[in-house]
Amino acid sequence: MEPAPCLWLLLLSLLRVSAGTSQSPPPEPCELDDEDIRCACNFSGPQPDWSSALQCTAAVEVEIRAGGRSLEPLLKRVDPEADPRGYADLVRGLRVRRLALGAARVPAPLLLGALRVLAYSRLRELTLADLEVTGTPPPPPPPASGLGIFTLRLRNVSWAAGGAGLAQLQQWLQPSLLKVLSIAQAHSLAFACKRIRSFPALTTLDLSDNPGLGERGLVGALCPHKFPALQDLALRNAGMETPSGVCAALAKAGVPPHSLDLSHNSLRAIASAGDLQCVWPGALNSLNLSFSGLEQVPQGLPAKLNVLDLSYNRLNRAPRLDELPKVGNLSLEGNPFLLPEAPRPQENAMNSEAGMAPACARSHLAVGMSGTLAVLQGVRGFA
Ligand SMILES: *[C@@H]1O[C@H](CO)[C@@H](O)[C@H](O)[C@H]1NC(C)=O
Ligand SMILES: *[C@@H]1O[C@H](CO)[C@@H](O)[C@H](O)[C@H]1NC(C)=O
Ligand SMILES: *[C@@H]1O[C@H](CO)[C@@H](O)[C@H](O)[C@H]1NC(C)=O
Ligand SMILES: *[C@@H]1O[C@H](CO)[C@@H](O)[C@H](O)[C@H]1NC(C)=O
Repeated sequence: MEPAPCLWLLLLSLLRVSAGTSQSPPPEPCELDDEDIRCACNFSGPQPDWSSALQCTAAVEVEIRAGGRSLEPLLKRVDPEADPRGYADLVRGLRVRRLALGAARVPAPLLLGALRVLAYSRLRELTLADLEVTGTPPPPPPPASGLGIFTLRLRNVSWAAGGAGLAQLQQWLQPSLLKVLSIAQAHSLAFACKRIRSFPALTTLDLSDNPGLGERGLVGALCPHKFPALQDLALRNAGMETPSGVCAALAKAGVPPHSLDLSHNSLRAIASAGDLQCVWPGALNSLNLSFSGLEQVPQGLPAKLNVLDLSYNRLNRAPRLDELPKVGNLSLEGNPFLLPEAPRPQENAMNSEAGMAPACARSHLAVGMSGTLAVLQGVRGFA
């Protein structure tokens, strides 16, 4: 038997013990596509067949959802602080580049121990979704042996450490490599900035789908000096109120993005008195205000932009030139003044978009902390 499947079987048998053995196995929880690219597992059945995950060792994109299980019993069976070097070659041989783990209650030592093992893999993109991370983390590895991913996505992840969760997780990454960070449905966006190290290569920060964030919360989430290379900032559906309020928050946080996405917020066109003084970052050249319920062009926009997206708002008349910034590329489609026969087109558009976002996010590599990683953790004793 090849070492890799052997390892897997061991891990899986381990899991099977903790999950109890089923007499009549339900349908296969894992599916590998014909090209050996994508493998998705959904272990939500009552007594899932964990060994189905074996086929995922061949895949490049792996998504595992653990059906909301608690993985705490596994902690008794594995030593997450064990030295992973013993099976480094084996992990290096895995084809996986994108991994999504989700729907579980997982102790921090188990999750972070798994990341330490994955540091030997060629993983590039990690998504964690619908996870409750419990307990206290083990001591972090040296920075150079952290997980070298380019993209990290967190959706609905709660940490026992609250706002310090990101700072904890960062210690298991090589922060100098991360380019894209997205955090949606966060339980706390007050990031404990003092404990976060700088992300020198991070160009894209996506804090969309945090309706409770708001402009005040934004200042706390944009830890000053921690994102020095930031270019694209996405704040879709993030409780933003006025463009000039966002401008003020960016100024306060000292963050000068090149592109700013404020779509799917419920924006007011009239700025508060204090906001009007705000000076937008000179680097800003693209602003997205689509799907924001605007009835007029908002006050306090930057004087000059390459791209301004005002599509799918409620503009009842064509904006006057003196209301608009100097814009190279202006989008006004889906506004009522362009569609006199269809009185409220923006509502349909908004609804379909709003309905789409969660579905896309779910289908895209949802994350499940289950068989695979836990198994890799368990192998120490057998390798
Ligand atoms: C997983 O399977 C359960 C039924 O066993 C289903 O209700 C659920 O929608 C599935 N989840 C995903 C992400 O496919
Ligand atoms: C968020 O994750 C928890 C598990 O940690 C889950 O119970 C809950 O349903 C998730 N919420 C959403 C909106 O998916
Ligand atoms: C603006 O945002 C909307 C919705 O999020 C998106 O569909 C559109 O492509 C964006 N526009 C630009 C110019 O990126
Ligand atoms: C304007 O933006 C649209 C959508 O982003 C793009 O397809 C088009 O090429 C842009 N035009 C110019 C002149 O930049």
